[in-house]
Amino acid sequence: MGYPDGNETGTYLSLDMGGTNLRVCEIVLLEEKGEFDIIQSKYRMPEELKTGESEELWEYIADCIQQFIEYHHEVENLEQLDKIPLGFTFSFPATQTYIDNGILQRWTKGFDISGVEGKDVAPLFEAAIAKRKLPIRLSALINDTTGTLIASAYTDDTMKIGCIFGTGCNAAYMENCGSIPKIADYNLPPEMPIAINCEYGAFDNEHVVLPRTSYDVIVDEDSPRPGQQAFEKMIAGLYLGELFRLVLVDLHDNKSCNVFQGQDISKLRKAYTLDSSFLSLIEEDPFENLSDTSNLFKNELGIITNKPELELCRRLAELIGTRAARLSACGVAAICKKKDIKSCHVGADGSVFNKYPHFKARGAVALREILDWKQGEKDLVSILAAEDGSGVGAALIAALTIKRVKEGNLAGIRNTEGII
Ligand code: BGC
Repeated sequence: MGYPDGNETGTYLSLDMGGTNLRVCEIVLLEEKGEFDIIQSKYRMPEELKTGESEELWEYIADCIQQFIEYHHEVENLEQLDKIPLGFTFSFPATQTYIDNGILQRWTKGFDISGVEGKDVAPLFEAAIAKRKLPIRLSALINDTTGTLIASAYTDDTMKIGCIFGTGCNAAYMENCGSIPKIADYNLPPEMPIAINCEYGAFDNEHVVLPRTSYDVIVDEDSPRPGQQAFEKMIAGLYLGELFRLVLVDLHDNKSCNVFQGQDISKLRKAYTLDSSFLSLIEEDPFENLSDTSNLFKNELGIITNKPELELCRRLAELIGTRAARLSACGVAAICKKKDIKSCHVGADGSVFNKYPHFKARGAVALREILDWKQGEKDLVSILAAEDGSGVGAALIAALTIKRVKEGNLAGIRNTEGII
């Protein structure tokens, strides 16, 4: 609830469980308005954990936090430390009745850990922390989009939307409490801003709006959660390489297309063998004869390509990348239309936004078309690189929560122990 005003202070931990990595940060919000210090460590999220058992996940997370604290705090006995408030960025759809809880609705982004869907992840996390006697208090559980929005708004008050274009896709914006029927029982001030996590990766799960290709259908059917995250499966980083791969395998198997004929494409047949960086490299190939692309196919897949095949691959990558960027812009435009935002900044994070060539420019062109800006008029809504949402954003939200408890505003807070 609400925005930070730049006067938040204190030391916080943040834990980011997004997709590829697990990140632990310690953030010190300094006395100087809007300033902070940050130290962080990244831990690879082992692939087998993503489809393993619930307990293994929480044990692994607690181990990483323990390592982090032991490394950065030279104390013999962790119990001597005061409890540090932690903001947990849990980037999956969660039903929240409190800021410090979240019932996982369903896994996304290829995660499929048994025993967590339908459960509140806060006690599962807290149990693993308590077992190790770690000096931590879970103060806020947030989505990466919300963290991105709050962290970006901290330094730029024209930021109205926070987006992630990475392994998954999604956005958050601020709504007035009075416009949200499902929280009417909380009797909050109607004008009070509260973050809405749109979860628009699940847009069009009914498949009634967006045309899908046969490759979109395969990506969906072969995923751990068919029928879910329809929009995300067309635009997010996890799926771009897979779409590209499926098209090429299909063209090869359809003999009349004459693509990679006589070549051993066994490597290309392996699902998810290509990630979006493969497409990035193709789109970035600066050479007229696409020699970088040719080397990529030879080195990564053992396939020797000819000129028409290389041109086909380049065009295919452009089409997949352009569709992703233009549909991503639709999500931003939809929020602008709903909230009647005529001009603002949008904070965006994620590997696709930060690394995929032309993604930003293609998205900006699409926004201009959808929002009907006059020719020659500058971009009224600009999507910019965000501040670190899952680190600083999570710390700020933890700080805002503690501030509310101290002010006696306990709405939507589960655990106030040790704060007052
Ligand atoms: C999740 C969202 C998250 C997005 C970006 C999606 O798969 O459902 O909660 O914000 O990925 O990480």
